[in-house]
Amino acid sequence: MLQSKLEKLPGLFQSDLGENSFLIPKMAIQSVCDRWDQIWNFRARPDDLLITTYAKAGTTWIQEIVDMIQHDGDIEKCKRATTYLRHPFIEWVLPGPFSLELAEAMPSPRTLKTHLPVQLVPPSFWEQECKIIYVARNAKDNLVSYYHFHRMNKNMPEPGTWEEFLKKFMAGQVLWGCWYDHVKGWWDAKENHCILYLFYEDLKEDPKREIQKVLQFLEKDLENEVLDKIIHHTTFEIMKDNPMANYTFQPPAVMDHSISPFMRKGTVGDWKNHFTMAQNEKFDDDYRKKMSRTSLTFRMEL
Ligand code: A3P
Repeated sequence: MLQSKLEKLPGLFQSDLGENSFLIPKMAIQSVCDRWDQIWNFRARPDDLLITTYAKAGTTWIQEIVDMIQHDGDIEKCKRATTYLRHPFIEWVLPGPFSLELAEAMPSPRTLKTHLPVQLVPPSFWEQECKIIYVARNAKDNLVSYYHFHRMNKNMPEPGTWEEFLKKFMAGQVLWGCWYDHVKGWWDAKENHCILYLFYEDLKEDPKREIQKVLQFLEKDLENEVLDKIIHHTTFEIMKDNPMANYTFQPPAVMDHSISPFMRKGTVGDWKNHFTMAQNEKFDDDYRKKMSRTSLTFRMEL
């Protein structure tokens, strides 16, 4: 039944992206489907914190911020392991050990990561009333970042040309499915659950203000000096050179940073360097329709 639920969500774990798709993602996708019952039945604990995003919305950034907060700004403790091992990515299978097993073996309190749309989050997270932090990023920058990530990450399907990828994104035919439904689904869910909904653009504009929201949400109180240290340690420039956060630990056969670094630009508005005028008009028309019935709004530039 759950398998059929997954199949009804086009693009979520897409395995039919054409002849050029890599074998690895197909294997990974197969494994996700094969192990879906285990993912769906994952047993959350009441003190779990779930970090959730659409892919490329600033997941790694908020993970580092949260880890720094949880460790009172102790940089060495935050360098204990890569982001991938510090915060198990619950539905992902590659590379290395299956993340669910990492999560199960982890002592409480755990911080976990997912890109799942709200309707596919294992129900125990709701039953246990876990705290959730969601980060959303404007569609155009999110799409640009996702495109370059597909180019450099051999675990992802071939993106095709920019124009082709743009169309797939608009149609929701990409991994983790439709961006529009994702951001709206989580926006609605915050009415009934303990969700802190943040925006990449706000974090960029005023990291201090946004980190203070996270502190409040996690019921932590830190000295101003520690807060400043967290802000500094989680800037793009510092994280770009942090091997525990910049994904350079992945072999080039998995992530080829010479094609496009994981820590690529870290800005708001880079979409302007990618969209043609015609693409932008078409995107905006379609965007207005898809986002017409929500109070959720985004800033495409600062
Ligand atoms: P760009 O490709 O636009 O540079 P995720 O962690 O969800 O995969 O998101 C990756 C995106 O977040 C990349 O965007 C990356 O550069 C950006 N990012 C990571 N750390 C950041 C930081 N400290 N400040 C700003 N952007 C950051």
